[in-house]
Amino acid sequence: MAIRTPRAPTAAQARVSAVTCGLCHTRLMSEADHFFPRSLAFDSTRLHELFSTDELLPLWIAEPYVPLAAPIRAAIEERANVGWYGYETRPDSVKAAFWKWMADRHGWSGDGLTTIVSPSVGTSIGVLINELTGPGDGVIIQPPVFTDFKPLISSSARTVTRNPLVLTVDGYRMDLDGLAETASNSAVRLMILCNPHNPVGRLWSKPELRAVARICAENDVAVISDEIHADLTHPPHSFTPFAEAAKGTGVTWAATHGPIKTFGLAGICDTLLITDSTDIGDRFKTMSSRLHLTRNNVFATAAFETAYEEGGAWLDTLLDLTTANIERLHEGLPGDIEVMPIQATYLAWLDFRQLGLEVPELAQWLAARGLALSPGHWFGREGAGFARMSIAVETTTIDEAIRRLNHNHPD
Ligand SMILES: Cc1ncc(COP(=O)(O)O)c(C=O)c1O
Repeated sequence: MAIRTPRAPTAAQARVSAVTCGLCHTRLMSEADHFFPRSLAFDSTRLHELFSTDELLPLWIAEPYVPLAAPIRAAIEERANVGWYGYETRPDSVKAAFWKWMADRHGWSGDGLTTIVSPSVGTSIGVLINELTGPGDGVIIQPPVFTDFKPLISSSARTVTRNPLVLTVDGYRMDLDGLAETASNSAVRLMILCNPHNPVGRLWSKPELRAVARICAENDVAVISDEIHADLTHPPHSFTPFAEAAKGTGVTWAATHGPIKTFGLAGICDTLLITDSTDIGDRFKTMSSRLHLTRNNVFATAAFETAYEEGGAWLDTLLDLTTANIERLHEGLPGDIEVMPIQATYLAWLDFRQLGLEVPELAQWLAARGLALSPGHWFGREGAGFARMSIAVETTTIDEAIRRLNHNHPD
């Protein structure tokens, strides 16, 4: 039995332990049980269903497991202290805060675009699938990809149309020839792009996005660009909005954004749907009123605006932490578990294929070592042999995951 101890912290890791103090002073939970027990990641019934045990270090849900930004918590507490929780108007300053953030961090201006509040990314995608396609129509996804896309398409009686990513020695790329062929089928009406791409961590470049836009425009295929992980980019990489790459191509597009992933606010916050298409904007607004998706939550409003106005320093700290955690994984994991290159997201995509395990065995192998990771086949068959690990955690947690992955490792 070889148990490898992670090496002494590198300079980047030491820098992070210095900055984590900024997080620690708002620590909600002790080191030992630093997750809220009702969090989905810890749900005992769910863990039993998925991994046959709940005695696991749960790193399978895509959200940060560190104390969240102090200003957001303060804003929620301040709102709670008002003691009045009735109907409230959503001020314009909410969208203004988002667009100022986008301009400052990503150089993207919302000029000429329609911005609509939507309860969740899933809601936006579900509504647009129904609005932009008919029963039986094809909707392109690029597996391995975020698990919700497929059920959103099939539950609307549309056809999941796969254009898998290609794995090369340099990492993942899109199969643009495959896309051109797939999109040329007249039954295919929509593509759901994931930019940055969960789970493989790719940030699509402007030329790649432009190629997608051109192919889809030529074939009259609309694009939903799910950009919910946009803020989680690892320098020197930067995020290109599909909107910017698509300029002048004539493609019909909408993009999803919001603070839920960046700031760990999925349990409270709204998201945004952005488009340059008056038609999409009008259709979405009509469906929003028909389904009454417009109701707001007073805490969401407070959290949303504060996140974009005051959350920058916290996010920088989180990104330092994830960079250091990736370094730690590179150093501490056994040689036959590979950490795939990551450009964005706080999700490490680990390659276990050298272990030679069949699809169901990898999840069991991980669970036997006390780890709940998302096995790669959940994201499509191309993900078999891989697993996704949330790395938005304290470095001590990554060290524990590394220790477990070295436990009883067949050297
Ligand atoms: C790419 C992507 N889109 C959407 C979501 C979920 O968004 P929502 O909960 O708002 O539907 C996730 C969650 O992990 C995600 O990774």
